[in-house]
Amino acid sequence: MLQIRDLNVNYGAITALHGVSIDVPKGSIVTLIGANGAGKSTTLRAISGIARTGGGSIRFDGEDITRLPPHRIVERGLCHVPEGRMIFANLTVRENLLLGAYRRNDKAAFPAELDYIFGIFPRLKERLGQSAGTLSGGEQQMLAIGRALMSKPRCLMLDEPSLGIAPLLVKTIFEKIVEVNRNLGITILLVEQNANLALEISHTGYVLETGRIILADTCANLREDPKVKECYLGG
Ligand SMILES: Nc1ncnc2c1ncn2[C@@H]1O[C@H](COP(=O)(O)OP(=O)(O)OP(=O)(O)O)[C@@H](O)[C@H]1O
Ligand SMILES: [Mg+2]
Repeated sequence: MLQIRDLNVNYGAITALHGVSIDVPKGSIVTLIGANGAGKSTTLRAISGIARTGGGSIRFDGEDITRLPPHRIVERGLCHVPEGRMIFANLTVRENLLLGAYRRNDKAAFPAELDYIFGIFPRLKERLGQSAGTLSGGEQQMLAIGRALMSKPRCLMLDEPSLGIAPLLVKTIFEKIVEVNRNLGITILLVEQNANLALEISHTGYVLETGRIILADTCANLREDPKVKECYLGG
């Protein structure tokens, strides 16, 4: 579904990505793990058209999207939930959810989809009129995922959904990610520092180190890899 080849990204004189190649098969969950500054967010930003690429190609469902602007990429069904969630703090939960659908004109479908999202995240339904900035961190993460679902994605890219969230709720968020993948058939590219959980729920994984992919394998194999164990799974 998503095919990334030899991607380079430079920030001025700094090269953040050196020839990154990643394959995300339709219907799967693929995880990209790596330390702070490895280039994980940059990879997602390049795919969604926010960071300018300095070489390489990105194909989504067979189409070359390398030079498309971000809103055209969202329209094609590839949606990015950025690190730090970026919800609109002064708008209500309902308004944030509806903004996820701003490129769509099939408004008649929204109530049923909102109901479906409330089925996954009941907490959002209870907080519909609350301003999003006053939600807890975990609730904001649920809202960010819910808002992305309102864009009707075929592929969802999640940047550190567990960041700043209490361990108990992290498990819930990961369960929800699996649910979105299985029940809605949405393909997922998951960026995580919580390698333990990410490798548990994903099918294949990539390890990024200072802008380069150093390992790519099934998650079962990566969990047994001595280097992954030592550097990313706490020994
Ligand atoms: N806009 C920018 N201008 C200059 N350098 C940048 C910019 N954005 C990122 N970088 C640099 O690129 C490198 C990769 O950053 P990136 O945010 O992709 O890392 P990351 O793997 O997501 O890290 P983290 O786990 O901390 O979120 C870092 O060295 C960072 O300082
Ligand atoms: Mg990041």
